Amino acid sequence: MDKLLITGGARLNGETAISGAKNAALPILCAALLTREPVTITNVPSLNDTRTLLKLLEEMGVKTQREGDTVRLDAGEITNPMASYELVKTMRASVLVLGPLVARCGQAQVSLPGGCGIGARPVDQHIKGLQAMGAEIRVEHGYMHATARRLKGARIFTDMVTVTGTENLMMAACLADGETIIENAAREPEVVDLANCLISMGAQISGAGTDKIRIRGVEALHGATHAVMPDRIETGTYLCAAAATGGDIRLTNTSAAYLDAVVDKLMDAGCDITIERDAIRLKGPARLNAVSIRTAPYPAFPTDMQAQFMAINCVANGTAVIRETIFENRFMHAVELQRLGADIKIDGNTAVVTGVQRLLGATVMATDLRASASLVIAGLAAEGETLVDRIYHLDRGYEKLETKLAALGANVRRVS
Ligand code: UD1
Repeated sequence: MDKLLITGGARLNGETAISGAKNAALPILCAALLTREPVTITNVPSLNDTRTLLKLLEEMGVKTQREGDTVRLDAGEITNPMASYELVKTMRASVLVLGPLVARCGQAQVSLPGGCGIGARPVDQHIKGLQAMGAEIRVEHGYMHATARRLKGARIFTDMVTVTGTENLMMAACLADGETIIENAAREPEVVDLANCLISMGAQISGAGTDKIRIRGVEALHGATHAVMPDRIETGTYLCAAAATGGDIRLTNTSAAYLDAVVDKLMDAGCDITIERDAIRLKGPARLNAVSIRTAPYPAFPTDMQAQFMAINCVANGTAVIRETIFENRFMHAVELQRLGADIKIDGNTAVVTGVQRLLGATVMATDLRASASLVIAGLAAEGETLVDRIYHLDRGYEKLETKLAALGANVRRVS
């Protein structure tokens, strides 16, 4: 199993390009299931998660072709509308095939994802919404068995803000008979990117990016070409890595437009940030100030940046309070950061981090995607060598991580 060996202490310096957003690419690739015509998606990041999803789509009979960051999908015939436990358990986002399959094929068999490292993560809202649109869904032997004639437009109110839930229901509603209104919808930029792709395929959607999305169903969608938005979480992760090392970096092919909450906190921490149209530059101070955060749905501070901010607070001046309100078990990185000498106290969904003068390299274990990113950031800021184990988590969500970090002057090597 691969590990990442980091020799800390180097200030990050230089320029690197940000990839397409994983969390936008995954639903957008699933959207290809909604049409018989070929769809071309560009700026698709090369990640284990996108590879897993393409494999899943191929098992259903979708023809896929990848050239660089461009993926062509042809879902002319869907022969097997099923997502097996084997694939769904490795990537929860596979559940995003449920809505498109029921809408297009009138049937689907999709494994329940089960729990994961950061919490229970049920999919009851996806089921409830599809049932409101007339689908019959039985849960048997660990699988959701869904059938429907043509879905019917409905008014759906989700109990909590759910990103993939909103995306699943929005995709299904595109082919339903009549109008669907999703209330309490997720406002994440990735939902808007998916909506834009669907609109270019002929869907009639308004309100994406607000908490009320209206979808007027159409008989069929057509082929289209769509470019995936830049990855705001990858962008934020590199910004934190530069901040933690007192570096000076410029990230290209990205936008600060969806990063207000993160940029704001980095400025509070003492970073100097310059925003260009398609780039962001960050200069870190000699020592950061501690910054408290509270995660919540967009546009508030993203839970996917919580671990990285815990890492930068470990070496900041002062004490930060970190509240995680989205997932119940998302502090697994704290005990690993403590192995590097961090001062962190956990009480339920609150972590109190008091910055220390220096972290010392050690062997640490990655527990989930963003937790892994926080360990890399801490390793870059620590003295000596840090060995990050189980980096398959990182390979799920960060394209060319070592190459990009090396381009910024980090001393990072993958070891087997
Ligand atoms: C998506 C992102 C993930 C991010 C998360 C929150 C993708 C592929 N993944 O995950 O990176 O961390 O949003 O921003 O886009 N919930 C239920 N029932 C449901 C659905 C959700 O109880 O049917 C709960 C979840 O357990 C969680 C909360 O709602 O506590 C939000 O989860 P959700 O927004 O659905 O997360 P994902 O879409 O899985």
